[in-house]
Amino acid sequence: METIQSKVDELITQMSPAEKAGQLTQYFYFRLPADAGPALDFDADAQPKSVESALRAGAAGSLLFVTDPAEINRLQRLAIEGNRLGIPVLFGFDVIHGLRTIFPVPIAMAASWDPDTIERGQSVAAREARAVGIHWTFAPMVDIARDPRWGRIIEGAGEDPYLGAAVAAAQVRGFQGGELGAPDHVIAGPKHFAGYGAALGGRDYDEVNLSDSELWNVYFPPFEAAVAAGAGNVMTAYMDLNGVPASSSRWLFTEVLRDTWGFEGFVVSDANAVRSLVTHGFATDLSDAAARAVNAGMDLEMAVSDPAYRHLPEALESGAASPQAMDASVRRVLQAKVRMGLFDAPYVDEDRAREVLADPAHRDVARIAAERSAVLLRNEGELLPLDAGSVSSIAVIGPLADSKRDILGPWVFDVDLDETVTVLEGIRARAGDGVRVDHARGVRVVQREFPSMFDMFGGNRPEDPEGFDEDAEFQHAVELARGADVAVVVAGEWQNMIGEAASRSSLELPGRQLELLQAVVETGTSVVLLVMNGRPLDLRWPVEHVPAILDIWYPGTQGGTAVANLLFGDVTPGGKLPFSWPRTVGQVPMVYAHTRSHEPANQARRYWDEASTPLFPFGYGLSYGRFEYADLAVDHPVISTTDTVTVSVKVTNTADREADEVVQLYIHQRTGSASRPVRELKGFRRVTLLARESRTVQFRVGPSERRYWNAAVQDWVTDSSTFDVWVGGDSTAQLSTRFEVTDADQPA
Ligand code: NOJ
Repeated sequence: METIQSKVDELITQMSPAEKAGQLTQYFYFRLPADAGPALDFDADAQPKSVESALRAGAAGSLLFVTDPAEINRLQRLAIEGNRLGIPVLFGFDVIHGLRTIFPVPIAMAASWDPDTIERGQSVAAREARAVGIHWTFAPMVDIARDPRWGRIIEGAGEDPYLGAAVAAAQVRGFQGGELGAPDHVIAGPKHFAGYGAALGGRDYDEVNLSDSELWNVYFPPFEAAVAAGAGNVMTAYMDLNGVPASSSRWLFTEVLRDTWGFEGFVVSDANAVRSLVTHGFATDLSDAAARAVNAGMDLEMAVSDPAYRHLPEALESGAASPQAMDASVRRVLQAKVRMGLFDAPYVDEDRAREVLADPAHRDVARIAAERSAVLLRNEGELLPLDAGSVSSIAVIGPLADSKRDILGPWVFDVDLDETVTVLEGIRARAGDGVRVDHARGVRVVQREFPSMFDMFGGNRPEDPEGFDEDAEFQHAVELARGADVAVVVAGEWQNMIGEAASRSSLELPGRQLELLQAVVETGTSVVLLVMNGRPLDLRWPVEHVPAILDIWYPGTQGGTAVANLLFGDVTPGGKLPFSWPRTVGQVPMVYAHTRSHEPANQARRYWDEASTPLFPFGYGLSYGRFEYADLAVDHPVISTTDTVTVSVKVTNTADREADEVVQLYIHQRTGSASRPVRELKGFRRVTLLARESRTVQFRVGPSERRYWNAAVQDWVTDSSTFDVWVGGDSTAQLSTRFEVTDADQPA
């Protein structure tokens, strides 16, 4: 630490204001087709050249979007040889759910409710990223999302702060390893601080207004957990939070992040978010924007081109920017570079990179993650698992069934599609020669009404095969289904319909997919619906008419193999929903952890035209096993506010096959100095139980599980109250007990 400090201080004393500004500037560097320009405010030709000259002039401290190790080495050399102090470049990238080996999308990983699987996945992603020369990932996204119209719900862990915090910490551990700078690992950058998931109307980038209580109790906990796990970076959010641009909020970066949570890393802006302070009608010009951001504690500016931080020298000169704040920012960025070993080993071994990317062990980790993420939503008559011995023909239907690009989901750029296994391929390989597997797309690809910038990247925009005739193909699909023992319909959203800039005003299956599903069901053949999605979709009709529904999300490189293993029962689904699944878009936002209010008996009838309950509750997921819960007990029925109770429960798998259950604990504080939600998740454990095995699972509920931020007193409180406890397989668990918390100073 001493040496890091002195090395950094020594550099800072030698740096000019322009060199400091350079260290605080991060540029995009990518080559896009020339027509990418308008959507991105980006000159595909001039931009790389101007970044290279910035590198040569010591005016760029960090780059993003380069993934080729040879390119990384070339650019690194330009920088080191170009700046007189030889300061290396920090390379960042959106390694969201894998680099070359693609894992299930983050919401799917959260649905595994398995921090070990999540940690292992991100550690593989880190290994691949570091091997090519990336030092830092803009992940995990830990934004709580309660409105599935917002496309970025796919990048987070859903609606719940407790699950969100556990998933955030696991991802940070996976990315960073034991400590910042660990070999084969990268810096983790939880984002977008803060509140980005609560965009008005679910419209990406729109303003957010959150009460203090929601911020501290719901939206902050995953960030706090990520910081406690040692995250080396935090990214800002684009929008106004309660009327103040989140990318220039001293309260967020200095008071909350650093002073309250003890964050020691560096803060990066979201792309162009410092420039946007002008767009917001907040800063008068780029110089003002730069001064305000740096004064707020926003260290590194991410910019596509023409960064605001280029104006920092003049803002210093005029007295608008604080020299102390600027030096503190430079110090944080340089410390990260020293910790990551960049001064000692700035270049990357290109041969080793190739070997690491080809490591077959990575694909195995991805397959297991996909198997553990799937959520079985319905299984009438135990249609699943399929019996490979008695099924002789399967019709696999839908344009998503054989799409290599779509099964990977959004936020992947540098993938090898040849090694990606589609659902069709997975089923064919698993079913073997004795089973006839036919495929029909059935319906055409649906295009976005308004394309996004991601559609500009090669291969991201789905297309129909040449000469596609939808009516003929529809009939063909129905005939295949009629003639088969089982029809497997894959339906959902194309990957470019979800993610950043992918908000939606409806939750319906796009295009004619529902019509196709209905026609297939009408044939009388048994139907399994596989949902490919990153947000809940309107499944009201399928839930009434399709016997088996498995949510496979976007399961990644090995997705097809994993799905086939699940369908044929080689593995048993054990994932659970990380959000309440609404019936229809009109119900959103919908949260299980709401407070009780006037006429609670009518809670399920708040709308006159549709039940106000979810289609599937938070925490829900079926299994090929069957679980019974019994003997729920607390060790101490009466405790003081500083004490902890241990809750135990016996869980039995009554089925004849091994299966996983996610045992979930919910509490409710009956009375106190504020009203508390009807239920809150405060513990969970994914356990594997052999056929007919019983296991006692224990949870601890202590002051940190019971405390909450109270708007009335503007502080954290731990109330005395009766607490109800439920334990079970989802948020509607019925088995309950309770304990009392009494103030230790008062006689009970
Ligand atoms: C904008 C996104 O909001 C952010 O999450 C991402 O990391 C950056 N672009 C860089 O791609």
